[in-house]
Amino acid sequence: MSRIIIFGAGGRAGRAAVGEARRRGHRVTAVVRDPARHPGLAGGGPDGATGAEEHVAEGGVRVVAGDVTDADAVARLAAGHDAAISAAADLGARPGAFFPAAARALTGGLVRAGADRLLVVGLASVLETASGTLLMDTPGYPQEYRDFYLGHAAGNEALRAAGAALDWLVVSPAGDFDHGGARTGRYRTAPAAAASRISYADFAVALLDEIDAPEHRRTHLGVEEG
Ligand SMILES: NC(=O)c1ccc[n+]([C@@H]2O[C@H](COP(=O)([O-])OP(=O)(O)OC[C@H]3O[C@@H](n4cnc5c(N)ncnc54)[C@H](OP(=O)(O)O)[C@@H]3O)[C@@H](O)[C@H]2O)c1
Repeated sequence: MSRIIIFGAGGRAGRAAVGEARRRGHRVTAVVRDPARHPGLAGGGPDGATGAEEHVAEGGVRVVAGDVTDADAVARLAAGHDAAISAAADLGARPGAFFPAAARALTGGLVRAGADRLLVVGLASVLETASGTLLMDTPGYPQEYRDFYLGHAAGNEALRAAGAALDWLVVSPAGDFDHGGARTGRYRTAPAAAASRISYADFAVALLDEIDAPEHRRTHLGVEEG
């Protein structure tokens, strides 16, 4: 049993990670910006309805308020945890500012907290294809969201800049999420490919496998249904 803190726990990837971690019997701290907006996340019913700062439910998930770009908050909330997952993305912020800020706050805050391992949910667009070209640079790939891709890339660079201080790993779909997809419990690692898919639930299986038995370190790993 590990103690795992999950930032962005109210989002699609975050909720799947909370569910998979609980399924394996881990103790989970779920960080969201406003617990009142995430009723039910603790697994004990409409726990968020009171608007209080923290909720603990019978499901064993502690729901707390926190901002992933605030290193002091990360350090404070992550104290006593073995590993962290960040599935946070702020679509209202400038991507080139948000993702590096989150990476810096996570690396700095987690080192201070003594949490050893960080998994960040990344973006397939900045993952290498089999030929070594980044997916976003392949012919026909949509370019209207390029600022978002570059924001994720800058976040990955900020993780690399942390050097050996933290054991981090970026995991993304090799292509995209299969939004309606169910949990099969299976996946495989793969280079980027636009047509590749994985369900959120199976993506969470990959995340938790890398916490329970780490196999990859300080790189960007793609996963797909398999
Ligand atoms: N093809 C691909 O590779 C692919 C496809 C989809 C997504 N992704 C990536 O996967 C990641 C997760 O995506 P998703 O679909 O799960 O996104 P999502 O459903 O939008 O969830 C993102 C969560 O981040 C939280 N958040 C925003 N700003 C925060 C902050 N400052 N501190 C803490 N939490 C914050 C939001 O929480 P609040 O409730 O507080 O607003 C939201 O619940 C993202 O980085 C996204 O870019 C990759």
